[in-house]
Amino acid sequence: MNNTLPHSHHTSLEFGASSLSDSLQSAALSGLENSSKTLPSALFYDAVGARLFEEICKLPEYYPTRTETAILRQYAPALASRIGADAVLIDYGSGSGEKAQFLLDQLPTLTAYVPLDVSREQLMQLAAERSAQHPLLQVLPICADYTEPFDFPYLPYQARYIAFFPGSTVGNFHPPDAADFLAQIRQTVMPDGKLILGVDRRKNPDILHAAYNDRLGLTAAFNLNILRHLNREMNATFNISHFRHLAFFNEEISRIEMHLESLVTHQVMINDQLIHFDAGETIRTEYSYKYNEESLNTLLEASGFQIDQLFTDRREWFWIALLNPIPD
Ligand code: AVI
Repeated sequence: MNNTLPHSHHTSLEFGASSLSDSLQSAALSGLENSSKTLPSALFYDAVGARLFEEICKLPEYYPTRTETAILRQYAPALASRIGADAVLIDYGSGSGEKAQFLLDQLPTLTAYVPLDVSREQLMQLAAERSAQHPLLQVLPICADYTEPFDFPYLPYQARYIAFFPGSTVGNFHPPDAADFLAQIRQTVMPDGKLILGVDRRKNPDILHAAYNDRLGLTAAFNLNILRHLNREMNATFNISHFRHLAFFNEEISRIEMHLESLVTHQVMINDQLIHFDAGETIRTEYSYKYNEESLNTLLEASGFQIDQLFTDRREWFWIALLNPIPD
């Protein structure tokens, strides 16, 4: 597959063109047909959802972005000195590229910067900006959904690859899937590369609860927007006012769970399928796992990484973990 081409996904003619891949559409349908209903979190990020998420990141209650940024700002020089000269930085889910910028600024000898994102438009804008700012740097954008298999079409050979996966997005994977994903990254950075990973730490449940139940209701809007997205892209007939946002911290499993709760007994059509909802029934739309030292170690062991250094903030709410692949 050539990852540099724009994505174009089409559903059957019957439903008209959809921008959702067939695999995402079938995951959505089978999730709704389950006895415990679920929807893939990837469905959050249509244009509206992406914008809502950006706004969520600025909310006073949503501490992760601000906390991670502060750690990166403070420790970018230390990270850069561990990374060393002549490395290739692979930015998984580069978005606007703000976080990697802290590293780029400290790494004048970087061989190449490889931003990787599913949004082609944002990716191309970022690539142009970074090339202009760093004229000697090779900028090699890759348009891909990193949750699905993809190739690196043109990475420089014999370089040291530094994977950067910030944002605590690793927490949105079920831990065994997180381990598989990190194990793939390990294959990419072996033998002498590194992984810089953003991890949200377990903390007081009240703080977690507030972060996913903000007073402005942006997280609720973000969650409910998934139904609008399905109405548009999968001919669904969701009535948004029949659902409410539900987010809580599951202490036993150390994860935030986001759900959409049906307020009434009703039925919804989606791509020709009829889905029944009882009043009070929920669709789980997201997990956001919060790690402690023990669960982080378990994750790293399962994915073949060991800790080089952990950086945290003064409140110990978030980690930037600098990781080395364990040799075969
Ligand atoms: C992208 N991800 C790390 C966010 C999180 O906190 O798990 C997504 C999010 N969901 C609700 N608010 C933000």
